[in-house]
Amino acid sequence: MSILEIVKYGDPILIKKAEKIKKITEEIEEFAQRMLQTMYAAPGLGLAAPQVGRSIQLITVDLSRGENNKNSIILANPEIINKEGEVLLEEGCLSIPDIQEKVLRPARIVIKGIDPKGDEKIIEAEGLLARAFCHEIDHVNGTLFIDRLSPLKKGLIRKKLKKRIQAGKIS
Ligand code: NI
Repeated sequence: MSILEIVKYGDPILIKKAEKIKKITEEIEEFAQRMLQTMYAAPGLGLAAPQVGRSIQLITVDLSRGENNKNSIILANPEIINKEGEVLLEEGCLSIPDIQEKVLRPARIVIKGIDPKGDEKIIEAEGLLARAFCHEIDHVNGTLFIDRLSPLKKGLIRKKLKKRIQAGKIS
């Protein structure tokens, strides 16, 4: 199974709200499996379809980094239906290499989405899992983690990234 290319900061697909998935077809399922393999190879804990060049609401998350098959989650049309508390923790993104910043996220969340069988799924999560879901759900809505920083901090990071893009260091 071939690995997909990860889209980097600067590509407009990353700041666009992705399309809802109407039906989990065999092709979507296969694509999700390729997303998982891409995420493991990166390596990363989560991935969203726009990060591999497809503007659809599909995410993969696996805190075990592929060590345990049961831990991999594939979810279409994910959304947060409840959140509680706040935690400030350092975060990064496969599409924004070498930038880590503390981001405020809910401590606990309840999300819903569609699993690969086409069934609705409700998942309660806290800690790192909640953070990973929030990060990937942001991606399908066209939001990056740097968008959640203070305007000052975001401005500085954007300047840094712009310089890197101009120097050809992000592609
Ligand atoms: Ni990301």
